[in-house]
Amino acid sequence: METQRIKTEILPENYRFLQQHVYSQVGIVLEDNKHYLFESRLAPIVKQLGLDSANDLCTLLYARRNADLAHLVAEAMTTNETYFFRDPSQYEAIRTVWLPKLREDRRATRALRFWSAAASTGQEAYSLAMLLMEEQLESWNIDILGTDFSEKVLERARAGLFQQIEVNRGLPASLLVKHFRRTGLDWQLSDEVRRMVRFETIDLRKSMSALGPFDLVFCRNVMIYFDNETKRKIMKEIHGTLTKGGWLLLGGAESAFGLEAWFERVVVGNLTIYVAR
Ligand SMILES: C[S@@+](CC[C@H](N)C(=O)[O-])C[C@H]1O[C@@H](n2cnc3c(N)ncnc32)[C@H](O)[C@@H]1O
Repeated sequence: METQRIKTEILPENYRFLQQHVYSQVGIVLEDNKHYLFESRLAPIVKQLGLDSANDLCTLLYARRNADLAHLVAEAMTTNETYFFRDPSQYEAIRTVWLPKLREDRRATRALRFWSAAASTGQEAYSLAMLLMEEQLESWNIDILGTDFSEKVLERARAGLFQQIEVNRGLPASLLVKHFRRTGLDWQLSDEVRRMVRFETIDLRKSMSALGPFDLVFCRNVMIYFDNETKRKIMKEIHGTLTKGGWLLLGGAESAFGLEAWFERVVVGNLTIYVAR
């Protein structure tokens, strides 16, 4: 047991190499105390390549300069935790404040555009799609884009196949019955809801001006992984994709503090909304 532990421990120079690698590939900052995270998340790649340890993986990564392997390692270090209707008060605000206003504003075009940036396995985008379906907007032209750095999670999102444990998290039973059907141990989301959302691989650090304009952007639980410079750059890009008055919704631990030139901070109950200027 002890031999195994010593064998797999990441050497300090390799740890620094991995930190820099993940930062340059995806922008994620991993502090000095995340050995366990690197070891556990890189273990499947180490095994798949028939290597002995994460140290061997570093040697390979360094020597081969292989873009696919470089991407695979960075992707493995992303945190993909998500669930249906996460932060319910945000969905409630969309339903009760945002939608009534937009129904009125867009009476002529009947078109609405949404973006779930950092969509992971799709629960955020699909929650929005289900909410909109409940609001009888069938005759409207609704476009929901879900994007993520990781193609692996987006493949799952596109399939719309969720495990029992995933539908148990945040999804009201009425919506489970209405939009999902059981297939073996999993739950398949209906084509009707899946068709409302399209998924694309996009690195948030790249220019995003061509994606907009959006009426509402979710960028939740991803900024926490970036440094201030990256955050600021991404917020500026997101601002550029939003219509004037469009909403940006962030995760509970995130804020657009210091970015008042781009976003007005509006508080609804205990919820903070960032409205594009
Ligand atoms: C914790 S999940 C958040 C999912 C969802 N927004 C939510 O709040 O439930 C964070 C996601 O951000 C993605 N991500 C991390 N860095 C990224 C980057 N540079 N560009 C795009 N997506 C990134 C990860 O792949 C991961 O799926």
